[in-house]
Amino acid sequence: MKRQILVTSALPYANGPIHLGHLVEYIQTDIFARFQRLRGHDVAYLCADDTHGAAIMIRAQKEGRSPEALVADMAVQHQRDFAAFGMSFDHYGSTNSPANLAACTGIWQRLRERGMVVERSVERLYDPVQKTFLADRFVVGTCPRCGAADQYGDSCEACGATYPATELKNPRSAHSGAAPELRPSTQLFVRLEPLQGFLTQWTQTSGALQPEVANYLAGHFLDKPLQDWDVSRPAPYFGFEIPDAKGQYWYVWFDAPVGYIAATMEWCERTGRSLDAWWRDPRCEIVHFLGKDITYFHTLFWPALLHVGGYQLPRRVQIHGFLRVNGEKMSKSKGTFVTAARYLQFLDPEWLRYYYASKLSGKIDDLDFQVDEFVGKVNSDLVGRVVNLASRSARFVETTGLSARYPDDGGLFERAAAASEAIAAAYEACDFREAMRLVMTLADAANEYVEKKAPWTIKKDPARAAELQDVCTVVLNLFRQIAVYLQPVLPGLAAKAGALLGSPCDAWAAVATPLVGVRVAKFEHMMARVEAEKAQAMFTPEPSAPAATPTPSTAQAPTPAPATPAGGDTALAKEPLAGAITIDDFQKVDLRIAEVLAAEAVPEAKKLLRLTLSLGGGVTRNVFAGIKGAYEPDKLVGRLVVMVANLAPRKMKFGMSEGMVIAAGTDGEVYLLSPDSGAKPGQRLH
Ligand code: MSP
Ligand code: ZN
Repeated sequence: MKRQILVTSALPYANGPIHLGHLVEYIQTDIFARFQRLRGHDVAYLCADDTHGAAIMIRAQKEGRSPEALVADMAVQHQRDFAAFGMSFDHYGSTNSPANLAACTGIWQRLRERGMVVERSVERLYDPVQKTFLADRFVVGTCPRCGAADQYGDSCEACGATYPATELKNPRSAHSGAAPELRPSTQLFVRLEPLQGFLTQWTQTSGALQPEVANYLAGHFLDKPLQDWDVSRPAPYFGFEIPDAKGQYWYVWFDAPVGYIAATMEWCERTGRSLDAWWRDPRCEIVHFLGKDITYFHTLFWPALLHVGGYQLPRRVQIHGFLRVNGEKMSKSKGTFVTAARYLQFLDPEWLRYYYASKLSGKIDDLDFQVDEFVGKVNSDLVGRVVNLASRSARFVETTGLSARYPDDGGLFERAAAASEAIAAAYEACDFREAMRLVMTLADAANEYVEKKAPWTIKKDPARAAELQDVCTVVLNLFRQIAVYLQPVLPGLAAKAGALLGSPCDAWAAVATPLVGVRVAKFEHMMARVEAEKAQAMFTPEPSAPAATPTPSTAQAPTPAPATPAGGDTALAKEPLAGAITIDDFQKVDLRIAEVLAAEAVPEAKKLLRLTLSLGGGVTRNVFAGIKGAYEPDKLVGRLVVMVANLAPRKMKFGMSEGMVIAAGTDGEVYLLSPDSGAKPGQRLH
């Protein structure tokens, strides 16, 4: 009867912060894992950072640090955010680990043995200035479908089209701005066609996939011969060098899912368990949670690797839709791209856990965050219907404790206990919305009882003390059942309920037996109501360069800038000091010493000079600077300036601008900054 369940969430990329969209996934996985533990099963919930790939490498380069340093930093941030939202990982690893290299190597050897790796030359885009092959994401150009400018090499944000980077019109390298060239590159492919029969059978008949996912795969991939999968990337690349193919690296999507196994290896090592009992024993159920955007990696490529590697296949792949905010894609400019860290400045993480639970049905549909609905659900369900049960009864039994015998409650407790299997079935199906609905029905029945009995009235009559104790014994037991049922979603609230009644809400079976004769702790505040303004403020765009903009009053809000005493015609009066930032904010700006190699006027622009800047070591940047009125181009050549080196490249009418030169003043009165002598091009300003 005791099941063994290995649960995973997709491994978040180390190149960005955790945001509300990610949390749809991590919260639902955590609810599932906690539910299974509560039922008494043996659960391992594993995750890791996905650290490899061109994006990380390039970002690290721009930030002037090693990719290892960057991913170490992100690992700390991710895990801090996850902890704040209550993620109960048994282990959190990294794909850049010795365990992962070992697991990848093992699978790779099996692929080689079976003759499933083939080598072919393909034409890839190459940056002649940076001297590297370009990942699709680092080519920008005009969408071949709709003609929108400045689109990435893999997809168009304007029309949603996806295409190979070689089809972009007017392609440019996002690093150097140079026009990329096509160059032949030798790459390794994994043949999937030999596994077509196996994959068809597994996807269509194993029951591991949601029906809509199985149909999608049948209609889009399995209806024709499966294409070979391009699994190598030429250097430079941040990843694992392929042991038997020097200068070639495994493509990030090869080693990323293997990270699930590697995380299990590390966890087994740490806790003295056997990896095979989790990955090669069919008694263990492997359940993957992931978003719909990465479906085919997990339902075609990954099963192929597992199969060849001699591992067992997932029992279930639970795929969810995307988070939208007020009906639209999350957007930075609209302020609806909210990071986990930002959410925490305004709101309580358990609110989000409940809100998502109340909306997740186990289907693949997108999910819409609506502020009104969020506020309504938290305030009316959690505070109004659940916490209220305790707050309206606990203090009346603070001195007496619960009755020694469970009184007659008209069958309420038994009915709530009988709902156990229906609620469990909903959790098991990841239909958390249904589970929450069933629990709220129980809460309604309990509240009706409280209203009818009105303990606050009974309290007034000392002769009815025994009746008061009985009524509160019923209400607190009904409250406790609800707290147990909600424990997977609201572990914090369940812990408070456990503390109140001196008996933890940590086993599903607790719903079957009423607590009697126990002491009741002093009632402590359990959960606050959401203030709608705070929820709204969280979705309000952060001002970009504010002058002492007032921030919402929250505990962790940044401190406002000091009042500026300067008046009159001073520089400070004209441009008051900006709001305070943290050292982390400052460190995002990569300021470098640069040498001006060439300078020329842009004839079509009144204010612009085109500067070619050197960062040393042959690395150059093209920058347009608004200093035409203040400097003669010739006089600039050879001098040192300070530049913002990690500003995203911007396409201008006259070409790509790849940074910004720092200067004081505006228009005709501009003063470039120069370092004291001794500074070298490329040095970072700290
Ligand atoms: N690194 C890959 C996964 C590798 S798994 C071997 C990746 N990372 S991710 O950071 O982009 O996304 C992690 C998970 O969060 C994915 O399952 C993704 O679908 C999910 N989500 C990312 N943005 C999301 C929303 N806006 N909404 C819902 N889920 C989202 O993909
Ligand atoms: Zn387009």
